[in-house]
Amino acid sequence: MSELALGLRAGRLAFPPGFWWGAATAAYQIEGSVAADGRTPSIWDTFCATPGKVARGESGAVAADHYRRYQQDVDLMAELGLSAYRFSVSWPRVQPGGRGRMNPAGTAFYDRLVDALLARGVRPVVTLYHWDLPQELEDDGGWAARDTAYRFADYAGLVAGRLGDRVQLWTTLNEPWCSAFLGYASGDHAPGRTEPAAALAAAHHLLLAHGLGVQALRARLPAAPASLVVNLTAMRSVSDDPADLDAARRMDGLANRLFLDPVLRGEYPADVLRDTAAITDWSFVRGGDLEIIGARIGALGVNYYQPTLVGAAHDGVRPGAMAAWPGCADVVVHPIPGPVTDMDWAVDASGLREILVRLGREYGNPPLLVTENGAAYRDRVAPDGGVHDPERVGYLHSHLTAAHQAVSEGVDLRGYFVWSLLDNFEWAEGYGRRFGLVHIDYETQRRTWKDSAHWYREVIAGGGVPVDRPAG
Ligand code: FCB
Repeated sequence: MSELALGLRAGRLAFPPGFWWGAATAAYQIEGSVAADGRTPSIWDTFCATPGKVARGESGAVAADHYRRYQQDVDLMAELGLSAYRFSVSWPRVQPGGRGRMNPAGTAFYDRLVDALLARGVRPVVTLYHWDLPQELEDDGGWAARDTAYRFADYAGLVAGRLGDRVQLWTTLNEPWCSAFLGYASGDHAPGRTEPAAALAAAHHLLLAHGLGVQALRARLPAAPASLVVNLTAMRSVSDDPADLDAARRMDGLANRLFLDPVLRGEYPADVLRDTAAITDWSFVRGGDLEIIGARIGALGVNYYQPTLVGAAHDGVRPGAMAAWPGCADVVVHPIPGPVTDMDWAVDASGLREILVRLGREYGNPPLLVTENGAAYRDRVAPDGGVHDPERVGYLHSHLTAAHQAVSEGVDLRGYFVWSLLDNFEWAEGYGRRFGLVHIDYETQRRTWKDSAHWYREVIAGGGVPVDRPAG
């Protein structure tokens, strides 16, 4: 990487030539049309229909109506100047019920979408699984069952056969930590199970699904660049007290190393296996699994939102809700001082630099993409017709600056995707949390550019982030 390539250009921190400027979405969060063209229910349809699980009883049934309005949305992407668009394919559209033949009517949607993207010069980046497991597979055990990993590989092969001639980058899974621990340990996400042992089995079967999925992709597309997307956090200890440091080590094990070590080093971290030995004996890991999981990938996708500050429980500081963290009931998550987003997530870009640099140093400097980064705020259309979101502009500016810093330290970062292109269905939070660059009026489905969208268009056009922090 030459100094010049990364240097200052007209008051901007320039990113390497060929850097992918993107935005991301996921099928269930934007598509709607959940019963169209033969799609069957996923675990999220079931979860949303279960009283008390999702804010205000909302669901992705209509969402941003992207299934019918995709052409308009692709036009938006082209106007933004995106070089890549990360979206997910809905498994129950392509293979209703999760087994057997491909459903041509459902799959045709992704054919049209990919063609529309290519026609406007936007690279399609496909995530095969962004949490919408066919309900029938959950009925047979879900991710706690080994067979689900093999079902995923079959499905991956079907999609590769249909879209493989046009897709530029494949991602097997989005955020297996969330699928395993929010889905099967805390129950905050579908399928809403609260079984810590099943959650650890799910983590392994998700990783196995990733490895088998990569095999299935390569069987059909030998040169296919394949990736995994993980959500990482900078895990920080409240003090240097050994008990606090140990809490941070255990949490880092579950949040980060449980996924990074098998995929990038072909082994599970020994301390995590030890820490969780009272919950499971890990006998679901079979001979040969780690070779499959650890097969080389073309890139790692990193989703980053905030760091995590933890310590040990002691008198006066009692554990809060730690159900998503098997074996960490005695750990306390502390609030991080400073500004927060509408999700109550801390705004702290230093964590992004930290995890990117850590991947570079500790995991052999793999090609990386920031596949999600962004913030929710209470956006509304103002009387002047605009949507003024200076906090989001500030968030994106500080995180892109941190990403640039990591690149200048030698990290092999190839692209950055804002979460999200559009306001959308934010899982258990429903429509109350708006992450989009583009505002959606859910009554009319009207799309309105937020100020952050205008700002991002200029960043892309200029090839870098303005050095000066935006006003506002
Ligand atoms: C991530 C998810 C994405 C979105 C953002 C806010 O964990 O991958 O779908 O909900 O958080």
